[in-house]
Amino acid sequence: MANWVTGKIIKNHKWTDSLFSLILEAPIKPFIAGQFAKLALEINGQRIQRAYSYVNTPFDNQLEFYLVTVPEGKLSPHLAALKPGDPIYITEEAAGFFVLEELPDCETLWMLSTGTAIGPYLSILQFGENLARFKQIILVHAVRYAEDLSYLPLMQTIAKKYPGKLKIQTIVSRENNTGSLTGRIPALIESGQLEQAVKAKIDPLTSHVMLCGNPQMVKDTQQLLKTQRGMDKHLRRKAGQITSEQYW
Ligand SMILES: Cc1cc2nc3c(=O)[nH]c(=O)nc-3n(C[C@H](O)[C@H](O)[C@H](O)COP(=O)(O)OP(=O)(O)OC[C@H]3O[C@@H](n4cnc5c(N)ncnc54)[C@H](O)[C@@H]3O)c2cc1C
Ligand SMILES: NC(=O)c1ccc[n+]([C@@H]2O[C@H](COP(=O)([O-])OP(=O)(O)OC[C@H]3O[C@@H](n4cnc5c(N)ncnc54)[C@H](OP(=O)(O)O)[C@@H]3O)[C@@H](O)[C@H]2O)c1
Repeated sequence: MANWVTGKIIKNHKWTDSLFSLILEAPIKPFIAGQFAKLALEINGQRIQRAYSYVNTPFDNQLEFYLVTVPEGKLSPHLAALKPGDPIYITEEAAGFFVLEELPDCETLWMLSTGTAIGPYLSILQFGENLARFKQIILVHAVRYAEDLSYLPLMQTIAKKYPGKLKIQTIVSRENNTGSLTGRIPALIESGQLEQAVKAKIDPLTSHVMLCGNPQMVKDTQQLLKTQRGMDKHLRRKAGQITSEQYW
């Protein structure tokens, strides 16, 4: 049974009508970059809980989560309405295996995300530990509209810390945006456009691919990488080249 502690909202930053970041303080136990906590609220006498990935690093005192309001969702619209000073329940211990420690060494690490799933990569990259194991890292954020690229300035700041090593690429699916590829992750891999844009190859002998976010994106990309590149899921009992986390 999860142990819950009570935290306090410090800030609710609105990026767009549907995207927001919660900054809170809570007496949690140390977590590993890439892991998630569960957040919960009492709604009509019932505690509703959901998983959210840490965006901040394990050494930050303030905790940060990046969220989208799911219309008709049971919890996210209530989280979107939180104000500074409001209480929030959070699991004391984090969970999840979407962490660098679970990955084999490789030359090129691909970090692919849709929507709010950029979060765990920001935690891992801001923390910066364990990155020497990879020659280059490609961080990809795929969203519907350019205004959904909330963390692009942070992505650019982190990339400057790792010149020649960390490349960032944005993808926008529903409009054209300068500097972004247009379309969806699997189609842009299949056509070769993503690799061309970042000048790197998704090669099963030298690459590992992390996939996070929309479950259909995860499934479609996994399927494509299997059929087109012969890549398999990485398991503790059987090494592979793909590690994934689905948000629903
Ligand atoms: C390991 C893990 C980590 C997660 N981390 C985050 C995170 O950092 N930020 C975040 O916003 N969500 C995250 N989620 C999703 C989150 O747990 C909730 O599912 C989400 O907030 C919706 O909850 P709800 O009660 O409002 O909607 P519900 O009433 O539970 O409705 C669920 C439906 O909402 C849609 N949905 C759920 N999550 C998302 C999402 N992130 N983006 C787009 N559509 C979605 C799907 O259609 C899903 O069927 C994570 C989920 C998992 C399993
Ligand atoms: N983002 C917004 O502006 C916005 C506004 C209001 C409400 N919402 C609500 O927020 C929720 C989440 O929206 P979101 O935009 O954060 O997440 P999302 O729907 O998962 O979309 C994020 C990105 O993933 C892409 N994608 C979806 N399915 C895919 C697949 N099978 N393969 C590859 N890529 C795929 C989308 O492309 P496509 O565009 O091609 O689907 C988009 O580029 C939804 O319930 C939505 O109704 C979002």
